[in-house]
Amino acid sequence: MAKTIAVIGSQWGDEGKGKIIDYLATGADMVVRAQGGANAGHSVVIEGKRYSLHLIPSGVLNDNAVNIIGNGVVFDPPAFLAELDSLRADGVAADKIYISDRAHVVFPYHKLLDKLAEEARGANSIGTTLKGIGPCYMDKVERSGIRICDMLSAGFKEKLAGRIAAKNEIIVKLYGGEPLDADAVIAEYEAYAGRLAPYVRDTGIMVDEAISSGKTVLFEGAQGSMLDLDLGSYPYVTSSHPVSGGFAVGAGIGEGRIEEIIGITKAYTTRVGEGPMVTELLDGMGDLIRERGHEYGVTTGRPRRCGWFDGVVCRYTARINGTTGLALMLLDVLDEFDEINLCYAYEADGERLDYYPASLEKVSACRPVYKTIRGWKRDISAVTSWDELPAEAQAYVSEVEKICGVPVKFISVGPGREQTIVR
Ligand code: IMP
Repeated sequence: MAKTIAVIGSQWGDEGKGKIIDYLATGADMVVRAQGGANAGHSVVIEGKRYSLHLIPSGVLNDNAVNIIGNGVVFDPPAFLAELDSLRADGVAADKIYISDRAHVVFPYHKLLDKLAEEARGANSIGTTLKGIGPCYMDKVERSGIRICDMLSAGFKEKLAGRIAAKNEIIVKLYGGEPLDADAVIAEYEAYAGRLAPYVRDTGIMVDEAISSGKTVLFEGAQGSMLDLDLGSYPYVTSSHPVSGGFAVGAGIGEGRIEEIIGITKAYTTRVGEGPMVTELLDGMGDLIRERGHEYGVTTGRPRRCGWFDGVVCRYTARINGTTGLALMLLDVLDEFDEINLCYAYEADGERLDYYPASLEKVSACRPVYKTIRGWKRDISAVTSWDELPAEAQAYVSEVEKICGVPVKFISVGPGREQTIVR
């Protein structure tokens, strides 16, 4: 197994990355988050107990791993502290967590502006998680953001006061919203600064040293490749780069230092929020997937849109990530189906497409072209090896490999650590 491994989502997020990260993290010396923020939601089940993580890397559940929140993350102090307290209340030590001094900080005006902007979009809303992610990245790109290092500097109070005054103008004059109470926000965030200080480091140095000294380092993707700001289904995307390229910038390391890139994909497709989804099932089949797969958001509780496996998406995301292996998750969810469809191409206006178009109008016009595989109609949740898998399930996995052009290295048949087939 490679020493440096990245785990990325091959679809629209919620692929079950947390489980594979947790699985790989049991042997890892370091786990690194490099983009996104508290919009992420990973659930990991250990010995029957479910842990929901948002901002803290999943490696926190392995007492030996160092956990890094990299410079590319937009850091939400109250979300982080609440998560830390809750983990500790559950008996998790959570004592090796470090936050990059270069990470940008999410403030209450980012969350408020996220909500006001979504309301203003009306029917064209993106369906964001309302965690202030987009507005925080907007400030970063505009070069007016406040970073963790600023939060710990003498001029923090004045800087934040200036930002609140500027944002209140927008909140009130553009959106007709209620202005924020600057004194209250400043007092709250000054208190957070005191609590966060012990966790803050130049984390790029730590990651670089870990790699150079031959440690096992895991890069934990949040969201999914189809939510990438540049390469995803724009504008129904998040504001960061959840593709493998995002790790170099977001962790502050050289490109090319990651040896293995594992793409996590569900055995079917889900999506939260708006935007076209070619293989979406709006019938009882979709409901069955949702119920069997417990497809409700960890962060928002929203029911997820469900559909058949979209091979056009997976082939595309394998290409843009340079994926070296796939982890096929939640295969057991398909146990009850008589027949299972895999989409290997799209069709629009009589034209066959085997790539994902940039224009969402074009995507909306696409119909899936399916290959149908016979269902295995058996409970596979206790299967632990490839040979024990029913022939139909093996055929399904082989078809995924053929469509995506990438080997399936892990198969997951349930939420538990032990319900993982390694090939
Ligand atoms: P934002 O990241 O809150 O700005 O939301 C932008 C889009 O990304 C919305 O469609 C969200 O539902 C989606 N999104 C953000 N984070 C996740 C995630 O962790 N899983 C799945 N979808 C996500």
